[in-house]
Amino acid sequence: MAEDLSIIKGTKEEQYQALIPQIKGLLEGENDIIANLANVSAALKEQFQWLWVGFYLVKKDELVLGPFQGPVACTRIRKGRGVCGTSWAEQQTLIVADVEKFPGHIACSSLSRSEIVVPLIHQSVVNGVLDVDSEHLDHFDETDKKNLEEIVGLIVF
Ligand code: SME
Repeated sequence: MAEDLSIIKGTKEEQYQALIPQIKGLLEGENDIIANLANVSAALKEQFQWLWVGFYLVKKDELVLGPFQGPVACTRIRKGRGVCGTSWAEQQTLIVADVEKFPGHIACSSLSRSEIVVPLIHQSVVNGVLDVDSEHLDHFDETDKKNLEEIVGLIVF
């Protein structure tokens, strides 16, 4: 496994295309879920420099904070609450262009302006979510959705 990530410039799609094989390399040969979620968070943060990127894991009836990179965050989110809990309940990726316009948005950081949340689904069960926050409005689009869904699909629980 390569120890250093190769960071590239270019379009968003080009950045994902350079990063995804490296994420595959990081995940190969390691089956500890915390280790893998930690490295995926770090790789995404290093390439894209987003405000916050990390995982919440389903534990009983809540999402509990998992490995992440960025400022400290709220630790527990109920199903159906906030963007993360809604993504879990609806079993789908949510792109929020302006967090202030999302009813029930949970503001972990006052700097967050837009957000994307991708559920980690295995055999129709949501095991957690990947949450990404940006300090810029309208920062995430279909390119992020497609590639982040591919990346979470590489993670084996
Ligand atoms: N904004 C999220 C909460 C998690 S933090 O952004 C890290 C939400 O509304 O679910």
